[in-house]
Amino acid sequence: MTEIKITAPDDWHLHVRDGAALAAVLPATAKQFARAIIMPNLRPPVRTVAEAAAYRQRILEALPAGSAFEPLMTLYLTDTTPPEEIVRVKESSFVKALKLYPAGATTNSDAGVTDLAKCDKTLEKMAELGIPLLTHGEVTDPAVDVFDREARFIERVMMPLRARLPQLKVVFEHITTREAAQYVSEADANVGATLTPQHLLYNRNEIFKGGIRPHFYCLPVLKREEHRVALVKAATSGSPKFFLGTDSAPHARNTKEVACGCAGCYTAPHALELYAEAFEAAGALDKLEGFASFHGPDFYGLPRNSGEVTLTRLDWKLPESVPYIDESGIVPLKAGETMRWKFAG
Ligand code: DOR
Ligand code: ZN
Repeated sequence: MTEIKITAPDDWHLHVRDGAALAAVLPATAKQFARAIIMPNLRPPVRTVAEAAAYRQRILEALPAGSAFEPLMTLYLTDTTPPEEIVRVKESSFVKALKLYPAGATTNSDAGVTDLAKCDKTLEKMAELGIPLLTHGEVTDPAVDVFDREARFIERVMMPLRARLPQLKVVFEHITTREAAQYVSEADANVGATLTPQHLLYNRNEIFKGGIRPHFYCLPVLKREEHRVALVKAATSGSPKFFLGTDSAPHARNTKEVACGCAGCYTAPHALELYAEAFEAAGALDKLEGFASFHGPDFYGLPRNSGEVTLTRLDWKLPESVPYIDESGIVPLKAGETMRWKFAG
């Protein structure tokens, strides 16, 4: 196999930040993907349709000339998001979902939800109007081991929520465990999941190989090998419930290589190539197109893209660092290592 041709793909989970950071990272995604679901965890977060409209405008202005990339916006759910905001979401053409960050779970989540019961009326409205909820699926209870937080989320939050509101569409974002893959596989068609390249390619040993390696630290954190194997099986199964979401999360090198480093892997520039490696290793390159280009739009009820993209079989070396908002740059996942596929447009 020397070439992979697939329908133009989308990224169903992406952080592009704002301001100078936005200008630095957006072109990479716009080159590979036709659309992306844009995460709302800015400071302050994107909480209203009006704020999402303004953010969307800044994204459109940061695009390279001639780019047809379409940002699909999300709102940050809080304890006080009113049901009326969901009506405005439905009326807008560009806000596609709400994001649940359990308060304290990850980067810029302090304004997140403290108790999902506080959002009952708003979630009912979302179920009624067909607006999906995207979950950062980890409990924040400090008594729960960091490696078990996703599995506990299924029991404590996901199952009660789905029992209460079976009509609500839910995307279990960036799943990292066998438990989550199994839960989503067995759930009805209202539940889907995104998978990142790092969780398909690496297990938690990678964070500690020869010393502590902050560029492999993201949230939810990488898990044991048995979980990675279960995630690859889900992604390559052909099931329409599983789709591509990079969770590409840029942080300047000097905010990762410190005593208390930020969580996030930067994968936007070589995202498709990373997924191709994971699918090839599983002998499932024929399943890449469904995962990258069909299952996401089908779940969201959006049209599939019409163009095509090509990956070429070629060994090439990733740079150690790429330009970002300061001189420290940003270290992409697999920096300095050899990639097997090259995006050719
Ligand atoms: O690793 C992560 N980084 N996980 C998240 O949930 C947030 C993200 C970020 O915004 O940096
Ligand atoms: Zn994310």
